Amino acid sequence: MDTPQYQSYFLTNPYFSAVIKQNPIYQNQNYFKTMCGIVAYIGSKQAYPILIKGLQRLEYRGYDSAGVALLNGNLNVYKKKGKVSELLSFAHDKDVSATLGIGHTRWATHGKPDDINAHPHLSGNGRLVLVHNGIIENYATLKTALQRLGHEFISETDTEVLVHLIEELQERENLLLEEAVRIALSKVHGAYAIVVIDKEDPTKIVAARKQSPLVLGIGNGEFLLASDATPIVEHTKRVVYLNDGEIVTARRDGSFEIKTINNEIQAPFIQKLDLTIEALEKGGYDYFMLKEIHEQPQTIADAMRGRINATEGWVRLGGMEEHLNRIMNADRLIIVACGTSWHAGLVAEYLFEELARLPVEVEYASEFRYRNPVITEKDVVIAISQSGETADTLAAIELAKERGALIYGIVNAVGSSIARLTDGGSYIHAGPEIGVASTKAFTGQVTLLTLMALEIGYKRGKIRKSEFQRLLTELEQIPSKVEEVLKINKAVEYISSEIKDSNNALYLGRGYNFPVALEGALKLKEISYIHAEGYPAAEMKHGPIALIDENMPCVIVCTNQSAYEKIVSNIQEVKARKGVVIAIVTEGDTVIKNLADYTLEIPDTAEPLTPLLSVIPLQLLSYHIAVMRNCNVDQPRNLAKSVTVE
Ligand code: G6P
Repeated sequence: MDTPQYQSYFLTNPYFSAVIKQNPIYQNQNYFKTMCGIVAYIGSKQAYPILIKGLQRLEYRGYDSAGVALLNGNLNVYKKKGKVSELLSFAHDKDVSATLGIGHTRWATHGKPDDINAHPHLSGNGRLVLVHNGIIENYATLKTALQRLGHEFISETDTEVLVHLIEELQERENLLLEEAVRIALSKVHGAYAIVVIDKEDPTKIVAARKQSPLVLGIGNGEFLLASDATPIVEHTKRVVYLNDGEIVTARRDGSFEIKTINNEIQAPFIQKLDLTIEALEKGGYDYFMLKEIHEQPQTIADAMRGRINATEGWVRLGGMEEHLNRIMNADRLIIVACGTSWHAGLVAEYLFEELARLPVEVEYASEFRYRNPVITEKDVVIAISQSGETADTLAAIELAKERGALIYGIVNAVGSSIARLTDGGSYIHAGPEIGVASTKAFTGQVTLLTLMALEIGYKRGKIRKSEFQRLLTELEQIPSKVEEVLKINKAVEYISSEIKDSNNALYLGRGYNFPVALEGALKLKEISYIHAEGYPAAEMKHGPIALIDENMPCVIVCTNQSAYEKIVSNIQEVKARKGVVIAIVTEGDTVIKNLADYTLEIPDTAEPLTPLLSVIPLQLLSYHIAVMRNCNVDQPRNLAKSVTVE
């Protein structure tokens, strides 16, 4: 409970309350979040190397500036525009000794990326220092109020306002740090994960979260805090995923306490991490993306493990059992996702319609959430997300939930917000995906969606037993067929060298391979900065054909059995206009070989499973082109892995 003292000042202060109450934005639960990565350490080891390594693991969350604050009697704050490596060079001759510290890697929202706006941010008296992931929506109001009380700000960030607010409460009311943080957060509207330390009290770290992830690692006489578990795993496997509205105080004496913003003590739910350090390293590959492409035989097998048995003729998704009736009898499946996950959703549209005879709509989460869509209790929403933190997907789920639909998640990141918000779901078990361009998550998602469509289709009586059995047998062979596809890497590298200087590229596919064409084009755009468009092959003549000349590479996915002649005609149309055709064909194809400039062969499989194979050469193509163009494959400009802003 607030004491009368705080109420007398902050609750009655017109600047802190009036605007907040009147402005509808502050009532809305939308996920206005930023990315950014946070790491903190308290214990007996040197904090700096732990923070730096942790920040490097979190760079997928943003990499436009980085900083650390280290407390060793003195409070040393070092921050730098650019990647963590810039911070490392900047700090190489500085005093970095400390057993307590906090660190941050930023993706800018409020204020341009520069040294001043970089985190950590200090309070006006230089006593408190704070890192923040999120957006403080009422920061302008709070800033004005604090300025009237004499506070001066040096950055353009909302974060600096928050640390000044905590300082104001701590000083004015003579509060413990955790109390000052708690009261301050009750005045704040928006999303946050924060960690704050006090120069005058090196015995503890205080952290809190609302709508931005934060994990507490509990070691032997030490604690870590981070935006995800990757900076924590090599120090301890015991973690607590903080819930919204929780504040944790982690003390040097090994004790910790979790409270809510309403001051209720919470019993911690300690979990054991199922994550290995090897999964977080490049393992001999030049880039994480290349490693992740090559992991796909394993990750697809992991996605199926224990869920399918072709010999016995069953598919079973544990997460679906409880909801099976509702899903089987749904009026409609609505798939919501963004980016590559949306492409996996498009593949699922073909799968569910063909195999389960259920109507499907595939929606960009960002459009769906603002469209006032018609959703009923008979609808089932499938939310697909690698990170489980995408803001638009989260908001779409909230909306569909409010309207009574069942929400099923297909998620990679264990314990993520989407995994926790959905009514049920299945993890794809692809392990951490670190390259910003998604690869193994896509094939993992498609594998899971295939299993779902098969189980539902069979149980709804829409697939004959023999066909069901055939598809299961084919599916079990996909990991070894992906191994086969990976052997064409050298050929893909050669083709990449031939087309790497293009300014544009067209990706075409039909049926199951249409979403694959979209995904191939997205990969190329994302990491090589070549403009590329994916199109249904037959739509080409309604526009893109006008662009085709000898400078236009056309990547055409032609493994279809059903529309084979039609795709052959599409190739002829491109060739007639001197386009350069790179064709992805089924092993043994001779017709297309004679037409195309380059062909890449992949093993034969059942048509509904082709995306799992045909996407691999496209991933490799974008990878090699990006390397040849000297692009930063794992961290392409302007992108981030986890898009927690709308
Ligand atoms: C970002 C990433 C993409 C990803 C998309 C959706 O744009 O760079 O790789 O496909 O977000 O993310 P999600 O985590 O929800 O799958």
